[in-house]
Amino acid sequence: MPASELYKKAAYFAAFAVFVALLLVIFPFIEDLLRTYLSGKLGLIISPEGVVTVEGGEALGKMTQTWVTLIVYGLNIVKIILLMALVIASVRFINYLITHTIYRNVPQGEISSLLKTVLSVIVYIVAFFIIFQSHFPSVQLAGLFTGSTIIGIVVGLALQDTLGNLFSGLALSADQPFVVGDVVNITNRGTGVVESVSWRGVKIRTFQNKLLVISNSVLGKETIEVSPKDNLNARLVLFNTLYSNSPARTIQVVRDAVRQVENVSRKIRPVVRVRNLGDNGIDWEVKYWLDDYNRHNDTDALIRQRIWYVFQREGIEFAFPTRTVHLATQSENALPEERFDNFAERLIRVSIFAALSDDEIERLASSSTSRVYAPGEAIVRMGKDGNSMFVIIRGSVSVQVPEKSEQRIIKDLGENDFFGEMSLLTGEPRSANVIAVDETEVLQIKKSAFKPIIENNPALVDSISELIEERKVLLATETDRQDENQGDGQKGLMRSIRKFFGLK
Ligand code: CMP
Repeated sequence: MPASELYKKAAYFAAFAVFVALLLVIFPFIEDLLRTYLSGKLGLIISPEGVVTVEGGEALGKMTQTWVTLIVYGLNIVKIILLMALVIASVRFINYLITHTIYRNVPQGEISSLLKTVLSVIVYIVAFFIIFQSHFPSVQLAGLFTGSTIIGIVVGLALQDTLGNLFSGLALSADQPFVVGDVVNITNRGTGVVESVSWRGVKIRTFQNKLLVISNSVLGKETIEVSPKDNLNARLVLFNTLYSNSPARTIQVVRDAVRQVENVSRKIRPVVRVRNLGDNGIDWEVKYWLDDYNRHNDTDALIRQRIWYVFQREGIEFAFPTRTVHLATQSENALPEERFDNFAERLIRVSIFAALSDDEIERLASSSTSRVYAPGEAIVRMGKDGNSMFVIIRGSVSVQVPEKSEQRIIKDLGENDFFGEMSLLTGEPRSANVIAVDETEVLQIKKSAFKPIIENNPALVDSISELIEERKVLLATETDRQDENQGDGQKGLMRSIRKFFGLK
């Protein structure tokens, strides 16, 4: 808060207080004038309580006496109003000072504003009692409030809900079970993010972007499940697999897939466990922790999507309620003819395989496997061992290296490009991360399939090492990283490829 605003407020308050004080100072003079005028002209005596009597017992018209009494009372009421205005202005200014100076760095929740309002109202009521009694000592205010059964019943009935809300609000403010921004689930009523808490009730923004308004008195009777915003809240996502799939493998691949999903906390490892051995297959649950609980629906959905992709690649199958009898299973190697031709067609288009014979291309195609990756998934991870390379047949990828807390993009690759050749050919750890940008299908070629091709095509080593050298230079300049083997150049690279493949 700028200091100038505080000075402005202080100046307004001081001006107002001086103005009211002046009026209050002038008041006794006005009263004196009135008294002198009344006793001089009409022979009336006014007691400090405002009781009007006639001096010397002289009769006075009833109307005149009533009018005089009204004027005297009126002056007293104006005085009470002025004093109350001063009290209200002072309380508001003190409130402002407390919230903007002493508690400047403490977040001001709606609940603390509720407490402030209640305290202020109590001060106003007490001040009113004191001021009123000092001006009208003969009127029994307390008696008026407590003694009148009718007023009590009427006020009680009228304020029943309001007071209920107010007291439930006070109980909530003392407890502080949730604050603005937390996700709450109120039994039988709904789930959403707390938007505001006031003395009347709570506003909750549901995940369908509707506003749920619940009064404090209703809220006080419900069970509330709170997921605080600054807490690592957990979620469960369920899925199932066939009994023929290995549980150990399922745990490994699902955990790896879930860990990569955005908004899944890196602080706690996700738990993948068997929930039940069901009628149709193994029932599983993934327990994971979220950074931002507000986005739990999207994160759950992304996790389910990633599980689908990883199952697709790893040949794990979902169990579904069916009584279909499988008489034959299809092995991964027995590719349909059409699909196999398609692979060969794709490999011909790859620059480094241009010199290969049809027979070699077909052999390479028959030993390749197709894999699908979701957008954002890592296909190759930097520093890991790798004994296969990949040809992109659909989608695109980005070659990245970590730089401080971010990823630096070295190159984008698309259809018919290839990657992963560096580790495959040299045996070195992966030099970069390769991340799928779109849904990407790749052909994976293993070292065992590559070896006979290299043995029959010594010239292939030259062209590949030339390309690897270019990529390494780009990688080194982009990252300011000095490669250990860089000084050896292309010749050194060719030597290490030959050595790695056991060639002369
Ligand atoms: P590899 O080291 O096995 O794993 C990471 C892959 O990223 C690497 O093989 C290359 O295929 C690829 N890569 C590294 N640097 C570049 C680059 N400068 N241009 C294109 N691809 C690259």
